[in-house]
Amino acid sequence: MEKTLVLVKPDGVQRGLIGEVISRLERRGLKLQAAKFMQVSNELAETHYGIHKGKTFYEGLIQYITSSPVMAMVWTGPNAVAAVRQTMGATRPTESAPGSVRHDFGLEVGRNLTHASDSPENGETEVSLWFNDSELIDWDRAVDNWIFE
Ligand code: RTP
Ligand code: MG
Repeated sequence: MEKTLVLVKPDGVQRGLIGEVISRLERRGLKLQAAKFMQVSNELAETHYGIHKGKTFYEGLIQYITSSPVMAMVWTGPNAVAAVRQTMGATRPTESAPGSVRHDFGLEVGRNLTHASDSPENGETEVSLWFNDSELIDWDRAVDNWIFE
């Protein structure tokens, strides 16, 4: 089953939106596999956002993600990557669909509240960057058969 890394970024944590984000993912039927509340080091931030190195917003992005704790999570489910990206909304809050997290709570791209992996391959890579295998919990959920076909 697909896995995706989800971060509630420092603005989401500071604004008390951890529960809101988790609640939306739970309601959707996605399944939590791991979670930790943590301060992101510069090294982790630079590896995670390595693809954006050299872009105009890179320095600000590293500063943003390391400015205060984040809630890091792994969510799984069929098409988990696409489902979570849809629940979070487009990168720019003013372009995200009404009803998405970024639309409902955000205004600016540099304060867009959450991160979610953008492909199944990056989901695998990011999950192993942020979590050890022993932190991932494979569990049977009573309603699995009513959500996963
Ligand atoms: P994320 O990786 O955080 O889930 O966001 P994303 O895929 O929707 O967007 P991405 O292109 O990967 O950009 C990563 C984060 O960098 C910040 N950003 N700022 N000022 C800008 O033009 C700009 N563009 C991107 C955002 O915080 C974005 O989430
Ligand atoms: Mg991205």
